[in-house]
Amino acid sequence: MGSSRPTAEELLELALEVARSAADTARRMRAEGVSAVATKSTATDVVTAADRAVERQVVAALRQVRPDDTVLGEEYGSTAGPAPSGPGAVRWILDPIDGTVNYLYGLPQYAVSLAAELDGEVVAGVVRNAATGDEWTATLGGGAWQDGRKLSGSTETDLGQALVATGFGYDPARRAHQAGVLAGLITQVRDVRRFGAAAIDLCLAAEGSVDAYYEKGLNHWDHAAGGLIAAEAGLRVAGLAGAAPGPDLVIAAPPALFDPLHERLARLDAAGGP
Ligand code: IPD
Ligand code: CA
Repeated sequence: MGSSRPTAEELLELALEVARSAADTARRMRAEGVSAVATKSTATDVVTAADRAVERQVVAALRQVRPDDTVLGEEYGSTAGPAPSGPGAVRWILDPIDGTVNYLYGLPQYAVSLAAELDGEVVAGVVRNAATGDEWTATLGGGAWQDGRKLSGSTETDLGQALVATGFGYDPARRAHQAGVLAGLITQVRDVRRFGAAAIDLCLAAEGSVDAYYEKGLNHWDHAAGGLIAAEAGLRVAGLAGAAPGPDLVIAAPPALFDPLHERLARLDAAGGP
């Protein structure tokens, strides 16, 4: 890839190659035993040697092919290239291991999540479950795919029959607020699921394995790739009251479920609290 403006397909091709090899590293390091566990924002927010090693590997691999790009990663922040500016600027958004607590416990729900932003817009994304090899991809305008299958989300239209995935932050005060929201929602839906990896949750919503997903407190690396995959599968991906999906709230739901879920979450002040 030269210095000319890349296509979304070219960026996805590189993302795939890099994410697959990163996922191999995560899985191999898990098999060798989880090491160097430290904590970040709270005592339950862990980071392992693998989170850091995978991020370093991805940054090095991207830098080799596209040295002028920026990479925003969860563990090291913005690590390569100048700040993206000018037409054709590419920024990669990386969660080296989404689902770190699952990784710690050996639960098979942890993923490498890698997205490419072109001129500030996410145009390509891959989420690869490192434990199972499941892989979801999307390019802007090119649909969402898993294993050659085009994804189109759930056809459920009744919120009362919807299986809704969500997640919780690491901060106890935030969790207390999230628990209140959940208490108000769980009586209004079929059931809820908490798998422990936001990127995978978004992909499960994209493929219709859950009907919808919402969460407060996500970082860009948690939802950049999975959000594109869900949107390209035809889901509405947004925050509250027309806001873009972001730290206040991410809702991903098929059009028929979005409004009733949004209304219920707004009434429960899902974007509020700490
Ligand atoms: C976390 C997971 C979890 C979600 C948290 C995230 P991490 O990411 O995606 O499902 O509920 O909000 O922080 O720490 O495993 O990369
Ligand atoms: Ca992570």
